[in-house]
Amino acid sequence: MRIILASNNKGKIKEVRQILDNPDLEIVTMEEAGVNIDIDENGTTFEENALIKARVVMEHTGCLTIADDSGLEVDAMNKEPGVYSARFMGYDTSYDIKNQAIIDRLEGLKGDDRSARFVCVIAAVFPDGTELTTRGTMEGIIAYHMDGENGFGYDPILYLPDMAKTSASLTAEEKNAISHRGKALRLMKDKLEKYM
Ligand code: IMP
Repeated sequence: MRIILASNNKGKIKEVRQILDNPDLEIVTMEEAGVNIDIDENGTTFEENALIKARVVMEHTGCLTIADDSGLEVDAMNKEPGVYSARFMGYDTSYDIKNQAIIDRLEGLKGDDRSARFVCVIAAVFPDGTELTTRGTMEGIIAYHMDGENGFGYDPILYLPDMAKTSASLTAEEKNAISHRGKALRLMKDKLEKYM
């Protein structure tokens, strides 16, 4: 079965190929499928945005398409930045600045009052219009200081109590095993295998 992945992000493509590993699944990127479009992610939930991306690319290719949407929810900030995680404080603002701003916003809060999580939703849209979504989370608390050199984005400030370190201190393999994206992708793999 041929699956189009509605992303051109190399990190995500590699992770999706590793996790959906199945000889019956051929994962093709948007670029490889010849789709060169800008998609307006104007939804207000991770589910809406993932479905918007998957629908548009399925309509262009006529093939089963999967897409993801992800972000950081900070409970003390009304679950912001949420679906606006990439846009938070502007696309061009560095993550050092964004991360420090979140730490500053939580000043004075301790323990569970600092709860936060990464969320990832994977959507699949079939040519017959069937739509599936799966959701994975990685729970933690906002650290008091940025820490760790791996990963990207908000990884240096999500402290994982079970691992006693931030997400940016995990190796790629450790992160894939417990991450929001890894969980959502494995759930989607199970759902897709039922359709094959
Ligand atoms: P998108 O899903 O590509 O729209 O990205 C959403 C944004 O959420 C990213 O640009 C990051 O800021 C943030 N994000 C999502 N997943 C992670 C993660 O695993 N680590 C750190 N930041 C993340």
